[in-house]
Amino acid sequence: MTQQTIKVSIRGIRIEAEHIRSFELVATDGAALPAWQAGAHVQVTLPNSIQRAYSLCNHLGEHSGYRIAVKLEAQSRGGSRAMHALQVGQTLQISAPRNLFELDPSAQRHVLLAGGIGITPLYAMCNALQGMAACELHYFVRHPDQAAFLDRLGDQVVLHTGLDAAHTERTLADLVAHHADAPRTTFYTCGPSPFMAAVETALRTAKFPIERLRSERFSAEPPAPGYRNNAFHIVFAKSGIEADVPPGIPIIQVARECGVDIPTSCEQGVCGACLSEVLEGAPDHLDAYLSDAERTSGKLMLPCVSRCTGKTLVLNR
Ligand code: FES
Repeated sequence: MTQQTIKVSIRGIRIEAEHIRSFELVATDGAALPAWQAGAHVQVTLPNSIQRAYSLCNHLGEHSGYRIAVKLEAQSRGGSRAMHALQVGQTLQISAPRNLFELDPSAQRHVLLAGGIGITPLYAMCNALQGMAACELHYFVRHPDQAAFLDRLGDQVVLHTGLDAAHTERTLADLVAHHADAPRTTFYTCGPSPFMAAVETALRTAKFPIERLRSERFSAEPPAPGYRNNAFHIVFAKSGIEADVPPGIPIIQVARECGVDIPTSCEQGVCGACLSEVLEGAPDHLDAYLSDAERTSGKLMLPCVSRCTGKTLVLNR
C-alpha cells in the first residue's frame, strides 16, 4: 500500500488568475514522468509534510512535466499557503497520477461545469477533447479576474460571472434542459460543494440519468443524516492492540491514544495518507479518495473519516 513517490522540482511558476498560481513540475533526475489522462490528480507532499491532492492541468501541447494549479485559500489549513510560498527550483515529493474522474468514452457530448478552482481537471479534459468530441465548458466565477486559464481557453469557454446562488441554479437548470433530449451527453463537475450540489439538483430535477454525471470533490462530503455513527470495537492486528471507538470519535484519534501509528495528513478523507488494509469487518466509507471498485472490495479504508457498519473492525495496523 506504499504509494510510489517521485521527486520533482519546480521548473516554472505562472500566475493564472487572482490568487491562483500554476506550478510546472519535472522529475529531478530528468526522467519522463508517468503518463496520465485528463482528470488525474497527484498527491503533493509539501515541505511542511502536509499532503494535498491537485489535479493535473497541463496546457495544450505541454507534454514534458506536470502542471498543477493552486488557489491561495483565505482559510488555508496550510496547504495552499505552503504551495504559494514555493519558489522555482524547490523540490517536492509527489505520487504517481491517479484518475478517479475519467472522461466517459461512451459520451457523444461532454458538458464540463467548473466552479472556481474546480476548473483544473476540467481544463485538462477540455484540452484532451479538442478536435475529438463535442465539448462545452462552462466556468462559474465571481469575477473574470478570478478565472484561471482564460488566455489559453479563448472562445472554448462560456464564462458565467457574478451570479448569486439562485441565478447559478437557474443557469444550471437551463444548461441541463438544453441537453435533456441528448441521452449520450455526459456532465462533469468540479468546484465547491454547494456548486456541485446545485449541478446534481439540476440533473435530478430534469430527470437526467444521474449516472451520466461525473464529479471530483476537494473534500469528502459531510456524512448524510442518519449515517452509522455507532460505537464499535477496533482491533489493530499488527500492533496487537484493541480498543472501543465511541460515536463521533475518528478511528485515527483512538489509534493515537493507543499508540498505534497511522500516518495522516488531510484528515478529511481525500489524500490517502491513512490508507489502511481491512482484515475483517465492514467499513462504512465516508472518504472521497477510494474508487468504487476499492470501496466494493471492502479491503481498504481511510480511517481518518470512515467507520464500521458492524460491531468489530480489524485493520492491518
Ligand atoms: Fe488524508 Fe486520511 S489523512 S485520507
